[in-house]
Amino acid sequence: MLVNLQTIIGMAEQGKYCIPAFNVYNTETIMGVLDAAEEAKAPVILQLYPRLFNEEVGFYLCPSIVAAAQRASVPVCFHLDHGPSEWEATRALRWGCTGIMLDGSAHDFDKNVAMTKHIVDTCAAVGIGVEGEIGHVGSVNDEVMDEFTTPEEAAAFVKATGVTCLAVLIGNAHGHYKKPPKLDIDRVKAIREACGVPLVLHGGSGIPEDQVKAAIAAGIRKMNIGTDVCCAFAEGTKATIEDPGRSIAIDIFMKKPIQYVKQLALEKIAMVGAAGKAE
Ligand code: 13P
Repeated sequence: MLVNLQTIIGMAEQGKYCIPAFNVYNTETIMGVLDAAEEAKAPVILQLYPRLFNEEVGFYLCPSIVAAAQRASVPVCFHLDHGPSEWEATRALRWGCTGIMLDGSAHDFDKNVAMTKHIVDTCAAVGIGVEGEIGHVGSVNDEVMDEFTTPEEAAAFVKATGVTCLAVLIGNAHGHYKKPPKLDIDRVKAIREACGVPLVLHGGSGIPEDQVKAAIAAGIRKMNIGTDVCCAFAEGTKATIEDPGRSIAIDIFMKKPIQYVKQLALEKIAMVGAAGKAE
């Protein structure tokens, strides 16, 4: 069933686990993730980067996600990931998103608050919750990572904007880590206590399981997984190409990539404690 961001995050909050939020890119990645969610009886978020809402891709992909989510027997939220402005948020609502992230973290605090509050008010008019970000989560290729989220800033940001959940920088980054990250779990706890809303962990690909579990115990309720989805899809494609008996018919050719994405999704669902939570 298609549910909104506040409903799915509320489930995790109540059960003290975490919703896996998978970045999807095409029909096959949607199929792999939803197959896994059905099998594991887990609530999941399917999310798209803003570039995938453009007319060429969004026209095909968004109606598929909405229809698949509506048909699913488990709760599924369709979320905009890293919307940089009102323009992208509006477009995502038009395409049927039931969760919106407004990422104003590249701006100063006051501008971030103003942009995010405006989207929170707009989305409230259509019953949709918003994820904000404070402390800019960058890439594993960045030279420095020096803007860790502070509890004080997080509390002020949540109070001023009314976001449903908050993405934080606590030692995480987007992409495959060059060496295992060291999440600042005490900081997660302190931020959570100070701001009082569920927290979001971006850069979920490659974070060791013990750290993921510690972060969830400290208040993380949504974990984003993008790079691992891409790698699983690519590995499945490579395995198919290397199979001398492969079929060239595209639906059959795509079976292994879907299967690899499903396997990855099953692992992440288990890791964040979401398996069986939709029963
Ligand atoms: P990874 O690609 O590192 O998993 O990060 C995904 C993400 O946080 C999307 O917002």
